[in-house]
Amino acid sequence: MKRKFAMAILLAAVACLMTARGNAQTKGVDTEGHAWWQHAVFYEIYPRSFADSNNDGVGDLKGITAKLDYLKELGVNAIWITPCFPSPQVDFGYDVSDYEAIDPMYGTMEDFDRLVAEGKKRDIRVILDFVVNHTSDQHKWFIDSKSSKTSAHRDWYIWRDGKRPGQPPNNWLSTFGTAAWTFDAKTGQYYYHYFYPQQPDLNWRNPAVEKAMLDVTRFWYKRGVAGFRLDAVDTLYEDPNLTDNPVLPGTDKFGRPNMDEIHNKKLPEVHDAMKKLRTVADEYGSVLIGETWTSNVDQLKDYYGAKNDELQMPMDLMMTGFKGLSADEYRKHIAAVNAAGHWPVYVITNHDIVRSNTRYADGVHNDDIAKMMAALYLTLRGSAIMYYGEEIGMENNDPKSKDDVQDPIGKLGWPLEKGRDGERTPMQWNHETNAGFSVAKPWLPVPASAITHNVASEMKDPDSVLSFYRKLLGLRHTEAALLEGDYVSTNEDNPNVLTYLRRYKGEAVLVILNMSAVEQKVPFELSAAGLREPKLEVLLTSFHKQVKGAFAVMPMEPYSVFIAKITK
Ligand code: GLC
Repeated sequence: MKRKFAMAILLAAVACLMTARGNAQTKGVDTEGHAWWQHAVFYEIYPRSFADSNNDGVGDLKGITAKLDYLKELGVNAIWITPCFPSPQVDFGYDVSDYEAIDPMYGTMEDFDRLVAEGKKRDIRVILDFVVNHTSDQHKWFIDSKSSKTSAHRDWYIWRDGKRPGQPPNNWLSTFGTAAWTFDAKTGQYYYHYFYPQQPDLNWRNPAVEKAMLDVTRFWYKRGVAGFRLDAVDTLYEDPNLTDNPVLPGTDKFGRPNMDEIHNKKLPEVHDAMKKLRTVADEYGSVLIGETWTSNVDQLKDYYGAKNDELQMPMDLMMTGFKGLSADEYRKHIAAVNAAGHWPVYVITNHDIVRSNTRYADGVHNDDIAKMMAALYLTLRGSAIMYYGEEIGMENNDPKSKDDVQDPIGKLGWPLEKGRDGERTPMQWNHETNAGFSVAKPWLPVPASAITHNVASEMKDPDSVLSFYRKLLGLRHTEAALLEGDYVSTNEDNPNVLTYLRRYKGEAVLVILNMSAVEQKVPFELSAAGLREPKLEVLLTSFHKQVKGAFAVMPMEPYSVFIAKITK
């Protein structure tokens, strides 16, 4: 039965607890059976845009190494670097021409080794991005594959005859706006590519491909890599009979018919490949994160494997698709993810998705919304993957005209599809030239908002988004209930405010998030969670006005955060 309480709010506790910061990274498994990655905060770095040490306008590995202290201070435990391997950069690194080297644009293998070593000194692990579905068309495997129908690597890719002269083998489409089949005049066949024509799909049904790819992971594990983010795993396998996909009503951003991609995505064989990759990862104590685009929790659940023998960390990307800030929608989703019984992995944005700070900004409460979203994904039970710049409230800086676009899909799909440049702009380090990213013109423009939203300025401002992130991550690393606790949803009838407890042994942390633009008075209903007359110690709020006194209801400012420890 639910009951309302008067709460004694001990505001004196705020100041000292808000400075608490720490790092709970552990080596083995803790008393709850949790491995390091379950407590870790991951931080995605788009290397082109993070820090440019040689001032050529593009970021590099030395630049990342130079910022490790910043990341350590922030509370980051692992960095995931998007592909830094040799590449013609058609898809900015997601077209790999050599899996076992570093692109000179980003530095050398020595720079990489130093990054890993310096990371280790700071307890920051390095995760690489493994593009498993396809290579670059400049990879030696594909160059050989294309050379003749009888070449050693011909069957490493998907080659087929056209249906009839001049017609591709079936109706599948590339997600990047072109056809999925490209004709090769020399050998008279088509090759398949789910992404750009310069990204031919590997044939994972060929055991030689599987072996070569597993060996790539060994190569990097031996160099000290703590795991991989596996790129585009949904698309690893295709129906060998090339059955046409059903055509759906309507058209996509490129003006092509919508398709139900049942024959070239999420085939059951994907799970066999995940298991094999996992077996190798386990030999090295490494972690596998998946780019798992799922439309429901059941699909997400499948990626952990029936025997927990696939991905330890399939990303829950579903929240990135929420159109607005609805407490109900989040509550239902989080409940379903927790009920699925696995360790959740929350992501609110990345290098392919409009930044969360832009998606939900209302022009009035932008920083408050950024803090509220931070409190959401960083206090839930599970691992969290941040995206660089989120912690300073960076917003998208979309191209203003087609001529400014770098991302090929933006050129092809303009104006409906503007591409992904907007969420990949240089990290804003200070308010000087090019936001301190580089003295040369950066490969993508820095927005005017860098004047206010940058690391140096926000460090000095106790109310900045960055200061909020630092305090929040500090709590996440030090409060046992946030690290280990279960998730208990409360105040479930409230459509505007998300309220939950994280409970561990005798402790609990209460999180209240006002997801609306108006003040909300939140009654506490914690008796269902076994808490009758709880006393609260405030850990962190994003309130602009100080709250004093004891409340029967909590006055929550628009888009505000209230986090308190229940001391009973
Ligand atoms: C993934 C990457 C994206 C890339 C695509 C093709 O979705 O996140 O950036 O373009 O795969 O590799």
